[in-house]
Amino acid sequence: MSDVYIIGAGETKYGELWNKSLRNLAVEAGLKAIEDAGIYSKDIDAIYGANGLAGTINEQENIGALIADFSGLSNEGIPAIRIEASTASGAAALREAYLSIKSGEYNVVVVGGVEKMTDLHGSDIVNKMSSILDREWEAFYGATPASMAAIIARKYMHDFNVEKEALAMIPVNDHNNASKNPDAQYRNKITVEQALNSTPVADPLNLMDCSPVSDGAAAVVLASEDYVKKNGKDGIRILSSAIAEDYLSVGSRESIYTFNSARLAAEKAFMRSGLKRDDISFIELHDSFSIYALIELEDLGFVEKGHAKDIVYNDIKLDGSLPVNPSGGLKAKGDPYGAVGIGQAVEAYIQLKEKAGERQVKGAKYALLHNMAGTGASSVVHILGI
Ligand code: COA
Repeated sequence: MSDVYIIGAGETKYGELWNKSLRNLAVEAGLKAIEDAGIYSKDIDAIYGANGLAGTINEQENIGALIADFSGLSNEGIPAIRIEASTASGAAALREAYLSIKSGEYNVVVVGGVEKMTDLHGSDIVNKMSSILDREWEAFYGATPASMAAIIARKYMHDFNVEKEALAMIPVNDHNNASKNPDAQYRNKITVEQALNSTPVADPLNLMDCSPVSDGAAAVVLASEDYVKKNGKDGIRILSSAIAEDYLSVGSRESIYTFNSARLAAEKAFMRSGLKRDDISFIELHDSFSIYALIELEDLGFVEKGHAKDIVYNDIKLDGSLPVNPSGGLKAKGDPYGAVGIGQAVEAYIQLKEKAGERQVKGAKYALLHNMAGTGASSVVHILGI
């Protein structure tokens, strides 16, 4: 089976982009990636578009056709489909594109993710975002993504004697890294005190523990080894790709602070790549809420259960032993659902090609990306390398 490379990447700025529509965002990111890869429409075998909630937020379905049409690719007859896996749509689409090349069916695939969320406000957008939960067993009773994360945080902090300060280290690190990322939604640095004193959202989580509501898009171009060699392209390699599921409803799980999907996906990804945890130069986590970053560090196998608090003060910094979210993460780079997983791949591409400027992780060789659906129902892990 062919190795698969990322040969081009592009993204829009993330944020409240009131002057750009869903299609504008998708096309902007896609064309940047195509230009970066130096390919033409005749080279593209397929387009995969990741999106979580356009049907419900923007009342627009048929995203694959929309992207192909407005990218000027419709007259080429290129297949274009949407992949939906909630907030993990991006990495799920990346994986499908990867498999399509591995299978030998395609040589070049453009895979993008887009979400346009800020046109709705207040309880309207919170209600739509809550559709990533189990509507009948969770959201119907008033649960929201933030309140579910708060329940998980409370139990975790109680059982492992974790102070709120440990949670606050996640947004402090994210905002610091995002201050060096021109595409990030929030580029202001914050102190631990600011994080701890920010507005309560769902106790014990404050505003700074929560990712924002975001617009944004990201895209990458994948190519087979054969295409890369024949066309003299330069790229980074997808060493492994894995996906795993857990119960949708948190109440059905044995432990509410264990993301089994992350555990399983990470095990498979490491096994397939042949790498060890120590080999990883940096990780991009799905920190939609600060508590999730701590749990993910544990369930992805980087630290024992209950001990993430030991590494969040120093190790996760850009110059630490395990840099986390050099992009700024979901908290500060932003959380446009369908774009997140592809945006993580864009960051890995930039880092592994040593083009990240001020936020460059020195000597980066291998990146681990974790994109998760909702409260951990699905996890997709990719390991990329030079
Ligand atoms: N972090 C930092 N600042 C934020 C922020 C966040 N998460 N969310 C909003 N802000 C800022 C806005 O930029 C704005 O700043 P300004 O006054 O300087 O312009 C201010 O706070 C008020 O913004 P507004 O949009 O009115 O906030 P809100 O109160 O409607 O929303 C939350 C705040 C926390 C409720 C919202 O960000 C949220 O729901 N986050 C969670 C998203 C989520 O559930 N994702 C699901 C992942 S599974």
